[in-house]
Amino acid sequence: MSRFDGKVALITGATSGIGRATARAFAREGASVVVADVAADGNCETARLIEQAGGQALAVTCDVTRAEDIRAALDAAVERFGRLDIAFNNAGIEQAIKPTHEITDDEWDRLVAINLRGVFIAMKYEVELMLDRGGGAIVNTSSGAGVKGFAGNAAYAATKHGVIGLTKSAALDYADQGIRISTRSAPGSSTPR
Ligand SMILES: NC(=O)c1ccc[n+]([C@@H]2O[C@H](COP(=O)([O-])OP(=O)(O)OC[C@H]3O[C@@H](n4cnc5c(N)ncnc54)[C@H](O)[C@@H]3O)[C@@H](O)[C@H]2O)c1
Repeated sequence: MSRFDGKVALITGATSGIGRATARAFAREGASVVVADVAADGNCETARLIEQAGGQALAVTCDVTRAEDIRAALDAAVERFGRLDIAFNNAGIEQAIKPTHEITDDEWDRLVAINLRGVFIAMKYEVELMLDRGGGAIVNTSSGAGVKGFAGNAAYAATKHGVIGLTKSAALDYADQGIRISTRSAPGSSTPR
C-alpha cells in the first residue's frame, strides 16, 4: 500500500524542476497525477515519464494567468480521475535582477499574474472542488524571498511574500472544513529563488 494510493494530485508548473520532481514523487507513492503547465511539450513529457514508470498521469496545457485554463484543468482531472484530493500550486517565474525603480510595469504585472494571482485563482477553484468532497490538501510554492528581502528582486519577493499571506489566511478560512492549506519556501538557496 503506497502513501497516496487512490488519491488524485494536481501539480502546476510541472515541466521541470520542483514541479516535475514532485509529480513523479506523487506517482511513485500511488497517486494519479494531473500536470498543468503552459509549456505543453515538457508537460506531456512529465506525464510520459510517469506512465513509463507505471504510474497514472494526465497532462493539461494550462496558463495559470487564465482562470478558464485552470478550470479546464480541474474539470479534466475530475473527468479522468473522478476527484481532486491534493493540489500543488507551484508554477512561477523569476525576475531579472535589477533595482526596484528599473522594474517595468509589465515585468511587475507578469510576475504578479503568475506567481501570486495564479496561485489565488488555482486555489479558489481547487477549494470549491474540495469543499464538495469534504476535504483535501493544498500546498502553494513561496520562496526564501517570501520571508526576507533580496536586493535586485523586489517584485519577485513581493509576489512570494504575498503567497504566504494568501496561504495563511486561506488556511484559517477552511481549517474546520477538512482542507489543509500550507506553503513552502525553498531551503538554503543563497539566491532569492
Ligand atoms: N528552484 C529554486 O531554488 C526555488 C526556490 C524557491 C522558490 N522556487 C519556486 O518554485 C517554483 C518552481 O520553480 P523551479 O525552480 O522548479 O522552476 P522551473 O522554471 O523549473 O519551473 C517553473 C514551471 O512553471 C511553469 N510556468 C511558468 N509560467 C507559467 C504559467 N503562466 N502557467 C503555467 N505554468 C507556468 C514553467 O513552464 C515551469 O514548468 C516557482 O514558483 C519558483 O518561484 C524555486
